[in-house]
Amino acid sequence: MEKIFLPRVNDLHFHGRSGQVLKDILPFTSEVCSHALFMPNIAGNEIVNARRVEEYRAEILKVCNPLFSSCEPLMTIMITPKTTPPTIEAAYNAGAVAAKIYPRGGTTNSENGIDDWDSHQLMAVLEKMEELGMVLCVHGELVYGAPEKIEVYGQYLGVLNEIEPSKREIRFCPIISKWCQLFPQLRIVFEHITTHAAVSLVFSLPKTVSATITVHHLLVTEVDVMGSHLNPHLFCKPTVKGYADMAALRAAAFSGNPKFFLGTDSAVHTKSRKEECGCAGVFSAPVFVEALIELFTEFGQLDKLPDFISNFGADFYDLPRASQTISYRREPSLVPGRIKESYVPFMAGKTLAWRRDE
Ligand code: DOR
Ligand code: ZN
Repeated sequence: MEKIFLPRVNDLHFHGRSGQVLKDILPFTSEVCSHALFMPNIAGNEIVNARRVEEYRAEILKVCNPLFSSCEPLMTIMITPKTTPPTIEAAYNAGAVAAKIYPRGGTTNSENGIDDWDSHQLMAVLEKMEELGMVLCVHGELVYGAPEKIEVYGQYLGVLNEIEPSKREIRFCPIISKWCQLFPQLRIVFEHITTHAAVSLVFSLPKTVSATITVHHLLVTEVDVMGSHLNPHLFCKPTVKGYADMAALRAAAFSGNPKFFLGTDSAVHTKSRKEECGCAGVFSAPVFVEALIELFTEFGQLDKLPDFISNFGADFYDLPRASQTISYRREPSLVPGRIKESYVPFMAGKTLAWRRDE
């Protein structure tokens, strides 16, 4: 029987949600991870200050106490237009290792996100983070640009400022470059990159800038999402792109360059919310390691997998590398169509080539 051993994962981008959903989904992550970085966009109760960092951490620890589990939660705070340097410092002192920027209106629960990318207050917050040594996690998509008269092939479309989804990440790249120059010690993670342009940018910038890559962006293109029927369970932000962009992401993941590491962005929504409201998010937590083993073995890159899923992320975040390993064996396993009645996992109904040993 073919077997492999992998270090526990560092999932440096995870949506754990709260309440019953947290209880339902956390075991998928805590069973295989060494650390998981919890995103702060909790519906109606975002993690925006030190008190919320402490409350959310306590809620997570009730479900997954590191005394009984080998997975440690890492906390983030969400940067909103109201965030000040003292807010950030208090959150850091309360245990937040990172702060997350969302573009306003660009994704799930991002109504309190940013749309003034040059404000003095935001610059002061980034300066404070640089001083404290906190990591800046950026959902790098520009949703609104300056209003422009848009004329295409001589046809006037109006004064428009909303950027097309497929171009939002590329339009954000100059902001990453600028922040990297302005704050040379600030560690920046360009989250869940999806394009060749973002891969090239991250390769070209100093080592303070890295990127997370999700499993679904390594495996899925727009052909899967909308090539025939619309598949709402693969709809996410940033949207998946085409073959060329997916190939660039795979090249980055296989490159052995420590700037590129895993952040699953596993983002559960109920089946009904996915199908009726089209919420963005792919629930990859139940299958992501097995899916990655299959991809990396198919391309003869298995030796690169431990660094990609575990070591490079730990190093960038200054975490101890995982000391425990988990074994997987080559044996087909069917991904269920539903989990806990309500959630549809990534690759539902498909057969994976590997499974975790009990
Ligand atoms: O697809 C996504 N889902 N992208 C995000 O940025 C947020 C996430 C969520 O929270 O559901
Ligand atoms: Zn996310």
